[in-house]
Amino acid sequence: MKVDRIPTHVAIIMDGNGRWAKMRGLSRNVGHRVGAESVRDVIRVSLELGIKYLTLFAFSTENWNRPEEEVRGLMHLLKGLLQNEVEFIYREGISIRVIGRLGRLPGDVLKVVKKAMELTEDNSKLYLYLAISYGGRAEIVDAVNRIISEGRREIDEESFRKYLYAPEAPDPDLLIRTAGEKRISNFLLWQLAYTELYFTDTLWPDFRRDEFIEAIEDYSRRIRRFGRVVEE
Ligand code: FPP
Repeated sequence: MKVDRIPTHVAIIMDGNGRWAKMRGLSRNVGHRVGAESVRDVIRVSLELGIKYLTLFAFSTENWNRPEEEVRGLMHLLKGLLQNEVEFIYREGISIRVIGRLGRLPGDVLKVVKKAMELTEDNSKLYLYLAISYGGRAEIVDAVNRIISEGRREIDEESFRKYLYAPEAPDPDLLIRTAGEKRISNFLLWQLAYTELYFTDTLWPDFRRDEFIEAIEDYSRRIRRFGRVVEE
């Protein structure tokens, strides 16, 4: 497999599980379960290509407003995946990290999340960030509140970054959103300032290996300018 320029950090809004299920007369939670297979595919390809950071939007702060049964199903799925896959994740050299307001997670889910993070914390082949109970504005507000509580009166961009949930991660090079919507939906608001955006109509459960590689190839063809003039 040959891709010219591999992004260091890929972020993904995994949208369309519900529509995928509805089209088949299945429950939304079945859509999420099949979507988890796509998560496996993008993790495998990331390892193969040498992508170092992968951030997946698994559950937003707004998702708490979904029907109780769906929220319970998603929490159960997250817990089960982390429990069942943590050995594989550890062996492959993946480090799991979680960003978001974790305080809202059910106790049993939080426990499994913490255990997975602790077990894999020294791994460094791929940093897998799961955005759970995550909102971009919430992240910025949390940062500002920490800054205030430390009594700081002034801040610049570089020091502000240190207060974000994952200050060690570089900004994403590429954001992928599936299922046709062309929105950021409160994901990584600070970090996406210069990120290349890739939108596809494919629903997340159908977004597998080949399409992920296609997105990376598309990225590798783009010239990034960061607001400057670049000779072509
Ligand atoms: C959006 O589809 C998807 C979600 C809210 C959940 C994504 C979660 C997974 C794929 C589970 C596995 C994840 C990890 C990282 C272990 P939607 O329900 O908004 O779809 P719709 O827009 O068609 O309704």
